[in-house]
Amino acid sequence: MKIPVNMPPGVAFLNGHFTAENIITKVTNSSSLVGVFHDEASWQALPSNTVIYQVEMLSSAQGEGELFVGTTHLNPGRVGDEFYMTRGHFHQRREQGEVYFGLCGNGLLLLQNEQGEAHLEQVSPGSVHIIPGFTAHRLINTGTEILSALAVWPSVAGHDYAALEKGFAIRVVEQDGKIQAKEVQNG
Ligand SMILES: [Fe+2]
Repeated sequence: MKIPVNMPPGVAFLNGHFTAENIITKVTNSSSLVGVFHDEASWQALPSNTVIYQVEMLSSAQGEGELFVGTTHLNPGRVGDEFYMTRGHFHQRREQGEVYFGLCGNGLLLLQNEQGEAHLEQVSPGSVHIIPGFTAHRLINTGTEILSALAVWPSVAGHDYAALEKGFAIRVVEQDGKIQAKEVQNG
């Protein structure tokens, strides 16, 4: 009997694009990122259909123990002095972690625990980021190219955006031509 060898989905490590039959994509425009950027006037001035980031993910099984795989493509740019970033989230199931792999571009991963303590990790091609449970996470593109990062996370993790109503404790801006990370009051 011939044993079948199935062709699995593929990912291009140079840019994070998948080759698979069923790819789910979600585009996030600036208009949906209400209250995310600190310079409200500059945010209002952007055309509402300005694409900040896109996520593509494989269609895979869901349930306890199952994993999702996806790539975030975060465009380069700034709103005022603040670099483009993802909305960021805690997982609804707080104990669930995630792994990010930097593929292309350069940026930062902002991590923040439930006590509001935040820190940054450099994201670059080949970087591996182990995001523990109980830790909110956000990507920030500080470069001039698209920042793409591959992620693997439990399908049961879910997203909790509301828990970050006060935002993150660090903002990353360009000041005097330099990338600067600043602590935020009431972060
Ligand atoms: Fe996540």
